[in-house]
Amino acid sequence: MTEKILLIGSGAREHAIAKALNKSKAKIELFCMASSFNPGIAEICSEIIVEDFNDIDNVIRYSKEKSISLSIIGPESPLETGLADSFWNEKIKVVGPKKDLAKIETSKSFARDLLRKHKIPGCPKYKTFNSLFGVESFLKEIGDHFVIKFDGLAGGKGVKVSGEHLSNHADALDYCKQIIDAKGLFVVEEKFLGEEFSLMSFCDGNTLQHMPAIQDHKRAYEGDTGPNTGGMGTYTDHNHSLPFLKTSDIQLAQNINISVSEALKKECGEGYKGILYGGFMATSEGIKVIEYNARFGDPEAMNVLSILETDFFEICDAVSSGLLNKLNITFQKKATVCKYAVPEGYPDSPVKGKPIYINSNAENLGEFFHASVDLKNNKLIQLGSRTIAAVGVADTISEAEKIAEKKINCVKGPLFHRSDIGTSKIIQKRIKHMDQIR
Ligand code: AMP
Ligand code: GLY
Repeated sequence: MTEKILLIGSGAREHAIAKALNKSKAKIELFCMASSFNPGIAEICSEIIVEDFNDIDNVIRYSKEKSISLSIIGPESPLETGLADSFWNEKIKVVGPKKDLAKIETSKSFARDLLRKHKIPGCPKYKTFNSLFGVESFLKEIGDHFVIKFDGLAGGKGVKVSGEHLSNHADALDYCKQIIDAKGLFVVEEKFLGEEFSLMSFCDGNTLQHMPAIQDHKRAYEGDTGPNTGGMGTYTDHNHSLPFLKTSDIQLAQNINISVSEALKKECGEGYKGILYGGFMATSEGIKVIEYNARFGDPEAMNVLSILETDFFEICDAVSSGLLNKLNITFQKKATVCKYAVPEGYPDSPVKGKPIYINSNAENLGEFFHASVDLKNNKLIQLGSRTIAAVGVADTISEAEKIAEKKINCVKGPLFHRSDIGTSKIIQKRIKHMDQIR
């Protein structure tokens, strides 16, 4: 039987998902509903249509027309809209949690309350506000290291951190006022100091199977400077840990993901089916929780799916059917490095609509994943966001870095990337930082 699958989303993460499905032994016909045309995904699927995937009625109509039996939801916005709920109502299986369960990502206060209520380790001191009443005294209680989080999806722009975006309590109060003026809620919390990493788990509502730990680089420029972005690049090590982590750190992060999935089940009355993404910080006081996402990370998906050994369709089927306990998911014992090329001016004032070229030296090296890039008159045109990613896979991070770096340098146009991601210089800095604070 041919499995008809609908992929929602059209970034490099979704290109990685499409490539992983394309390697499956199963007979698959892939469709994609996209926010922009993606030439990489288009090559793999039967049809890619550019339509609003938050228009649930339209997605369901299209899915019925194509006799879709399984959908994989890439980005967070349709999870918040409740697309997964509607698919299940139509008896279409889904990889991606229902709306209530996705609140682990879509509401910062929900995520914090869940950790506190269920006594899950790693929660900071925090309070949720809808007015300035009590904010100043809570900030005084926390001190100089604080974070203010808008309580909703804001495309990575809702979180402001002391010492980075906010210099003092007065700045913090100004930002809180902005949120209040927009009728929003916000969370004020303690800022953790340490090294960030992410650990994603496949989750079928009962069983979790964990993926390798990954470190992303959120800042736009070399040396972790410049504005925050969606993530400029990522790496994993051959042992599925990171050079600055201990085995016990990984174990703790995995246990926190398990506890979160159990807590979600108790809170929402049903299990979480999808990718549970824990964002953690290794600190002097152990592993702390920064945030949760309800989907694959981007670029993190490219690292893990590049070394996945198990058939990805079988995983998706097991996640959505509650049969993950029947699978043993494995990854190659290889290191990976992913680097994004982004438009000049990204993220604040990116150039848009310019052609980019890929020279033929790229062919025998690593792999490309297309993101915000269109194909017009046989030319690749960048659309203004993260444009194309290159992934290197090798025995060591250093070798993988060299492959990713060479490959991304084959992309020409008004773009830049972070050449330091995955280099020993920046990794040694992380190790030294952890040694100093532990
Ligand atoms: P989020 O949108 O929750 O991922 O937050 C964006 C970024 O803000 C994270 O990647 C962290 O770098 C930073 N951040 C969020 N919460 C904290 C915290 N409690 N302590 C330190 N940094 C944080
Ligand atoms: N790379 C971080 C994210 O996908 O949210």
